[in-house]
Amino acid sequence: MKKRVIYLALISAMVISCKQNKLKTDEISSENTLENVISSEIPELPETNTIKNIDDEIQVYTINIGNDPNKSHLIASFPITPYDFVNQTERKFTEGLINEFKSELKKYQTQDNNSNLDFNQHFDVKFHNEDFLVFLYTQNVSYGNNYDNRNIASIFDLKNQKKLTAKDLLKEPENFESFISEIRNLAREAIRNFVKNDTSYANDQERKQVLESVEETLVEGTLPTDKNYDALFFDEEGNWHIIFDKYQIASGYMGEFLVKIPKDIIQKYINERFLHLFENKDTVEQAIINNMSTSNSEVDCSKVPCVALTFDDGPSVYTSQLLDILKEENVKATFFVLGKSASVQKNTIKRMIEEGHNIGNHSYDHKDFRKISDQEAIRQIQLTDQIIEKITGEKPKYFRFPYGARNKANLAMVERPVIMWNIDPLDWKYRDADKVASEMSKASPQGIILAHDIHKSTVEAIPKAIKQLKAKGYHIVTLDDLFRHKKMKNGVEYSNGK
Ligand code: NI
Repeated sequence: MKKRVIYLALISAMVISCKQNKLKTDEISSENTLENVISSEIPELPETNTIKNIDDEIQVYTINIGNDPNKSHLIASFPITPYDFVNQTERKFTEGLINEFKSELKKYQTQDNNSNLDFNQHFDVKFHNEDFLVFLYTQNVSYGNNYDNRNIASIFDLKNQKKLTAKDLLKEPENFESFISEIRNLAREAIRNFVKNDTSYANDQERKQVLESVEETLVEGTLPTDKNYDALFFDEEGNWHIIFDKYQIASGYMGEFLVKIPKDIIQKYINERFLHLFENKDTVEQAIINNMSTSNSEVDCSKVPCVALTFDDGPSVYTSQLLDILKEENVKATFFVLGKSASVQKNTIKRMIEEGHNIGNHSYDHKDFRKISDQEAIRQIQLTDQIIEKITGEKPKYFRFPYGARNKANLAMVERPVIMWNIDPLDWKYRDADKVASEMSKASPQGIILAHDIHKSTVEAIPKAIKQLKAKGYHIVTLDDLFRHKKMKNGVEYSNGK
């Protein structure tokens, strides 16, 4: 009897331990645990000595943590410039978002919540000369279904090596209070216009009530704090703007407000140092490249084994190095670029076309298309088309969704073939050039390899990957070559060239 009890106890202990074991293995293999997302790659930030010369183009450094559409992820860019203090400051700023992401992930983990976090940060260069440098960041933060946007400007005084606050832009810092009362009036006017034009209100009485009800928020959101004025900036044309984020000065449904500050207010309050910048300004138009390579390849992919290398999420600080490698190896590839990064690294985009590569549209700032409105989705596609067409003279022929994430309606909006992939070396996860190269060389004939030119390790993997693919008899081609003999349809997905 006693023996039997022990025996039973033993069996049930084994069953329990088996169950626990199974749970553990499942957790590990699912890659869904937050530890896994966090630990997978908190990136090493770049050595920031890439650009030495002020005439060199500003580069984009992009950090990516997690890349699965159905799990938490972050993609965040910041500029690499010839100025070390700028790079260090912007890197620290970006670390702020990464730390927020990490701590939110931990919170979500303890709440046993299934939602996925999706954090995203990109920037525009608004002004650049030898005295000042102005960036405007947009951070898009999602806890599930949609994004909240935040706008933050960075204004650098290059001579004095200082990041400026709104107060630093004024003639007299003690005039900040009267400056902001002007700004508050402009903000009130912007809300009034919104309400006036919104036909969903029943009558003017209701409009009046709405305006009264947001007054408190408006005052709060325009108090003289650095945070309330962190999106005040000027651009190359000498325009001054301030962006008030969603919820900052009005109800959330009204969205964000971009307010243009009239010249007379600027003249009255802003320091001459900034006003002088636009006195003799001649606008330099970006020249369209004229020696377009027509990429007339000899390769006939209907007869020989081909494979297409595709690079997403750039251009970045590593793209020039990648272009050097491809040139050296005489290999043509396809770049699915982000509109926002393309507008910063125009010369890199030009070079891609000049050297015979294909350029595809990968959206403007890498939002998950399932979480944005149709209107925003179309804006993402068209804005990117316009930016690339202005640089290269050609609209991208292919589209790839960020994270490959899309719904049926999204497919129809694209109005061109949608490119997926069938070889994923998980280069965002394995920051190991040898591993990435050997995963890439597992390609099958007419395959499409997914890679990201935002990772140093990926770029370092390319010479080896090319060698291994060539050794297997593959011709490495652009998408134009891969699909030359195929009639492609708009809104249809292709994950290989068969
Ligand atoms: Ni991507």
